[in-house]
Amino acid sequence: MRVIAIDGPAGSGKSTVGRGLADRLGLTYLDTGAMYRAVAFAAIRGGVDPTDSEPIGEVARSIELSLDGGRVVVDGSDATIEIRGPEVSRAVSLVAANPEVREELRTRQRLWAAEHGGGVIEGRDIGSVVFPDAVLKVYLTADPAERARRRADEMSELEYERVAADLARRDALDQGRDDSPLVEPDGAVTVDTTAMTVDEVLELLVRLVEERS
Ligand code: CDP
Repeated sequence: MRVIAIDGPAGSGKSTVGRGLADRLGLTYLDTGAMYRAVAFAAIRGGVDPTDSEPIGEVARSIELSLDGGRVVVDGSDATIEIRGPEVSRAVSLVAANPEVREELRTRQRLWAAEHGGGVIEGRDIGSVVFPDAVLKVYLTADPAERARRRADEMSELEYERVAADLARRDALDQGRDDSPLVEPDGAVTVDTTAMTVDEVLELLVRLVEERS
């Protein structure tokens, strides 16, 4: 099983780079953030408070989740758009701090990798906790202002401020939680993408994978 783990803070380019790398290497791609977002979405829809530990754990264990072909389907409804909305973005890091949620999603992620023979997998704890034996671990980062600008691109000035505040708040929660906090995993290659194009990042990562094959 060949896993390439990509971790990093919000808006560091993990999804764009992860998809691109999977394409270039002919591997499948898993966005674990979408799984945490799907649990937050299901909780909001079910009227469950995101900080209510036990009920949230139950939501995670019971949801039927499919991530095939870039669509995110939660209990039969397509939630691809909603999981990126502000309501889910506000709740997701609270949901993701719950150890029961993490345990359930870790299990699903390992199962997914076993079924697909590995893949490019991105998130916050992939190289540090879920797949510590990954062939390549990448920690992607960029200046907070650049990350907010990328997210807010084509939005108004007001949107930029809101997006920047959301990213900073989520980073603090993700780095500060007890269970699987966002860290640079041992043995990871750190790539600061602030001044790099997507193609430059991809060239570098393809080279690193080739070196390890
Ligand atoms: O795309 P963006 O970087 O904004 O976030 P995401 O990858 O969609 O992840 C959303 C949230 O899920 C993160 O802020 C974390 O709270 C949580 N998450 C996590 O805790 N562990 C993961 N492996 C992936 C995401």
